[in-house]
Amino acid sequence: MAYALVRPLLFALDGETSHHLTMRSLDLLHSFGLTRLVQSNPPAKPKTLMGLTFPNPVGLAAGLDKNGEYIDALAGLGFGFIEIGTVTPRPQPGNPKPRLFRIPQAQAIINRMGFNNGGLEALIRNVERARYEGILGINIGKNFDTPIERAADDYLTCLNAVYPHASYVTVNISSPNTKNLRELQGHDALDDLLGQLKTRRDILVSQYHRDVPLVLKIAPDLDVEQIEAIAALLVKHEIDGVIATNTTLARDTVTNLPYGNETGGLSGAPLRDRSNEVIRQLFQALHGRIPIIGVGGILNAEDARQKVDAGASLVQIYSGLIYRGPRLIPEVIKALERLS
Ligand code: FNR
Repeated sequence: MAYALVRPLLFALDGETSHHLTMRSLDLLHSFGLTRLVQSNPPAKPKTLMGLTFPNPVGLAAGLDKNGEYIDALAGLGFGFIEIGTVTPRPQPGNPKPRLFRIPQAQAIINRMGFNNGGLEALIRNVERARYEGILGINIGKNFDTPIERAADDYLTCLNAVYPHASYVTVNISSPNTKNLRELQGHDALDDLLGQLKTRRDILVSQYHRDVPLVLKIAPDLDVEQIEAIAALLVKHEIDGVIATNTTLARDTVTNLPYGNETGGLSGAPLRDRSNEVIRQLFQALHGRIPIIGVGGILNAEDARQKVDAGASLVQIYSGLIYRGPRLIPEVIKALERLS
């Protein structure tokens, strides 16, 4: 209700300004203890996956809180888990603005942010300051100026640094906005990267006496052979989970709309069916051996149910939050509760 009133004002601003304004307002509400007034969530049955107990299956997708600046305020909205990042080893400004475009006619967003973030040190400081004790995923990436052949070095640097602070770590090789990043989804590159990350994780497990799950986030723009090859590598390297999907390069449904041909990744409603198809194919290839976190185009309860039908055990949302506001969270929790 409240969000429906402020949405027109937010949508009158450019995407990034409205994002910052919303996050600051949420933070302010939280600091006065008022988030509970705008949000009350239904009870849910906890779910244990990857050795973690999720209080409910609805998570915040990566990219909304890239630096972990708003963890407590976002937790107040009732997410079952929160994923921050993508973080890169060093701070970087991302692409020139404008780089975030709303397409309300299609309930979609195109972004080409390019991993703008404050780097590992800033993110870890923010995580240490947060009071949140729930499940925190930290999503890691590479700096734009690290050559793709040396990408593994950046992921290993990030893994080392975030390991003691994360409930799980997501390896993001699927952003369309960092040059050549998606090449890491190719068989040999991925085999090598996952092998190195898994070896390092085994060392970190004994160093910290804590088993932090590794999760891979993949793109929707993959054919069935590529999905099967990725599934085989996830099993081979005993990766704990997979997030499907990131944003798409496809534009078929939005080309005739304002901003529909902007460069970047498309998210929101037009991504839903493609993301469901990838989840379905992944689920078939994995035979339930590795849990899938479904994300892409959840705008209502039915969209979330479709993700679970396709094979997802948990879901995440981003664009839906922009279009529907925080009430989408209890709506989806309730719908998934009925399925369990
Ligand atoms: C994203 N997403 C994203 N994903 C990621 O792994 N790292 C990131 O830094 C970002 N950044 C980002 C910025 C913006 C503005 C958007 C809209 C999205 C992708 C996001 O986590 C999710 O996978 C997709 O947006 C699909 O879900 P929705 O938005 O359709 O619910």
